Amino acid sequence: MNEIKRAIYPGSFDPITNGHVDIISRAKKVFDEITIAVIQNPDKTPFFELEHRLELIKHLFKNDPHIKVEAFRGLLADFAQKRNVYTIIRGLRAVSDFDFEFQMALTNRHLNTKIDTVFFMTDEKYSYLSSSLVRQLAGLSADISSFVPPDIERSLKDRIHHG
Ligand code: COA
Repeated sequence: MNEIKRAIYPGSFDPITNGHVDIISRAKKVFDEITIAVIQNPDKTPFFELEHRLELIKHLFKNDPHIKVEAFRGLLADFAQKRNVYTIIRGLRAVSDFDFEFQMALTNRHLNTKIDTVFFMTDEKYSYLSSSLVRQLAGLSADISSFVPPDIERSLKDRIHHG
C-alpha cells in the first residue's frame, strides 16, 4: 500500500483568507492529508482568539476529510516531531516573501534535519493579500467578499460591529 503523504501548513490565520485557501487547494493536489496548524503566539494579541480561529477553519473545511485543524505553540519543529510529519507547506506571494521563508525553512531544518519545506505560489490575485490588510479593510467597511470566505467575512463584520 502507498504511504499517505502528510504535510503541515502553519500560520496565524487571523483570519484565514482566500489566499491561504488557494495555497491549501494547490497543496491538496500533492498531499493526501494536510494539518492546518494554527499558532498560539503569546507575543501577539490576536484579533480572533485561538479557539475562534480554530472553529472558523474547522467549519470551513468540515466536509473535507483531507484537512485537519490543530493548534500549536512553541516551536513548529517540535509540533512536526510530535505529529511525525516532516513536510511543511508555505505559500509564496511575491519575491519579498522569499528571504524570510528561506530563513524559516533552514531554521526548521536545522532544528530537525528530517524537516523539508515545500512552497506553493499563490494565485496572483492574492499576491498582495494579508490577514491584517483584510482586518483593516473590514474595519473601514470596505467590500472584502473577494478576499475571504463568506463565513469569515460574517465573523469579521460581527466582531467589528459587536465587539
Ligand atoms: N495568502 C494571504 N495571506 C497570506 C498568505 C497567503 N497565501 N501567506 C501568508 N499570508 C499573510 C498572513 O495572513 C500574515 O498576515 P498578517 O501578518 O497580516 O497577520 C502574513 O502574511 C505573514 O504570514 P506568515 O509568514 O505565515 O506568518 P504567520 O504569523 O501566519 O505564521 C509561523 C508564522 C507560525 C509559521 C511561524 O512564526 C512559526 O513557525 N512560528 C513558530 C516558532 C518557530 O518554530 N520558530 C522557528 C522557525 S522560524
